[in-house]
Amino acid sequence: MPLTSKIQLLEEKSLKAELGGGQERIDKQHKMGRLTARERIKLLLDPGSFVEIDKFVTHRSTDFGMEKTKFLGDGVVTGYGKIENRLMYVFAQDFTVFGGSLSRANADKIIKIMDLAMKMGAPVIGLNDSGGARIQEGVESLAGYADIFYRNVRSSGVIPQISAILGACAGGAVYSPAITDFILMVKETSYMFVTGPDVIKTVTNEEVTKEDLGGAMAHNKKSGVAHFIADNDEQAMMMVRELMSFLPSNNMEDPPQKICTDDHKRQISMLDTVVPIDPNKPYNMFDIILPVIDHEHFLEVQPHYAQNIIVGFARIGGKPVGIVANQPQVLAGVLDIDSSTKAARFVRFCDAFNIPLITFEDVPGFLPGTTQEFGGIIKHGAKLLYAFAEATVPKITIITRKAYGGAYDVMSSKHIGADMNYAYPTAEIAVMGPEGAVNIIYKNDLNAEARKKAVDEYRENFASPYKAAQLGYIDEIIYPHDTRLKILEALEMTANKSASNPPKKHGNIPL
Ligand code: HXC
Repeated sequence: MPLTSKIQLLEEKSLKAELGGGQERIDKQHKMGRLTARERIKLLLDPGSFVEIDKFVTHRSTDFGMEKTKFLGDGVVTGYGKIENRLMYVFAQDFTVFGGSLSRANADKIIKIMDLAMKMGAPVIGLNDSGGARIQEGVESLAGYADIFYRNVRSSGVIPQISAILGACAGGAVYSPAITDFILMVKETSYMFVTGPDVIKTVTNEEVTKEDLGGAMAHNKKSGVAHFIADNDEQAMMMVRELMSFLPSNNMEDPPQKICTDDHKRQISMLDTVVPIDPNKPYNMFDIILPVIDHEHFLEVQPHYAQNIIVGFARIGGKPVGIVANQPQVLAGVLDIDSSTKAARFVRFCDAFNIPLITFEDVPGFLPGTTQEFGGIIKHGAKLLYAFAEATVPKITIITRKAYGGAYDVMSSKHIGADMNYAYPTAEIAVMGPEGAVNIIYKNDLNAEARKKAVDEYRENFASPYKAAQLGYIDEIIYPHDTRLKILEALEMTANKSASNPPKKHGNIPL
């Protein structure tokens, strides 16, 4: 064969691979409101940076006449490229080839990428669009999944792993994302379930739609499985790029700093009046967070789930930080099962990847009630306590108002290793609110007037930051308008923090 023909053959094969399952299936994918694997990668990575690996891999199955149907690439596009000039590894399942299902060969391609990512210390981004195990391959496919899960676990806390769910992902296709750090879903075109509506109908006789069972909102709002929601594939890829801008490439690096054009030392006079004087009046914690961070730019994680706690990424003085904040506007900012597990996972992520934690606290305690107790609030609340106590990154806490009971201890208190603990003059740091305390101390021994006097006295003497400041549990009572300045000072002071937990195989977080 002459040289020109050999080069032509490569070009033909390459073009064929790029067509995946063929134009008809690509058109179907578009008609469903979804992009193809290659179109997604193009949007995700810096222009022209994608380098494909294993483009000509095919499956090796001979059962069910499979040897007659082979597609170059076998249902997944893998390789590496850059986001903001930083190395990323990517796999994108191609639904046009056997529904993006996982064959042995397809799994081997993903594994190759994951192993390279660990060796080079770079993140893995999975663009998932797969019907799960390749049914024709049986146990070989299951083995492929297990090989991927094993690597997900070994990579956890070493390199960031991000999953975008961009189609109907079923069976094994949801368990690998579940082990990764963040899951992003797309409204109305993406689904996640272990078993779909038909199986559920057969087994439990329940009738449920695909959307209600495993749609983007079901997992962003109800189950808490997903962390972000996008309107379409294009927006989803932009969101992954944005998320990566806050994260280091691996656990040995610091997160990427940006040049800060927002005045470092600006005072924020409106903060002096955000917290209402009436302790029963709610306010919006975002009115404190947003003015404090650079350019009010906040990437909220799980914005639709357990809204009584806010978690997300921001920059302060150009440095990425993780923010954890009670939200007095929702359920008075109480800690319950969902908010504790939401925040605990976020705290552990930040700690694993060297992202300092800033905690804004206004919490009346843990939510009472049988639903919470029977649901295990003791062990779930303990997760947050464990996560904050275990975290060795810089920890800075600002108590804006209530810090009551066990929740005071949990929310990054001095006693569990916070580096700087600030309180606003409006802070109330006590075992419980004044009314509750008086009820317990005096039972029914007081008339209305004496009760009011006792409540006022308790508020005056105990529901303030001064007792805690006297004891050194609060480092400084600050003017709210200085909040940004104080956080910046503390971040600077803790920049070279060196702390570690005692050597151990791993702790035993109450799961
Ligand atoms: C092989 C598959 C497949 C699979 C889809 N296809 N899923 N091929 N193995 N798992 C193929 C279809 O045959 C079809 O081929 C093409 O992909 C598109 O599928 P459609 O059904 O036409 O698409 P749609 O109507 O959009 O439905 C998508 C779907 C559905 C909801 C994902 O295909 C589906 O329910 N698939 C099976 C899901 C499943 O049960 N997976 C196994 C789970 S067990 P043609 O040639 O017509 O284009 C599992 C075990 C691992 O994953 C557990 C580890 C913990």
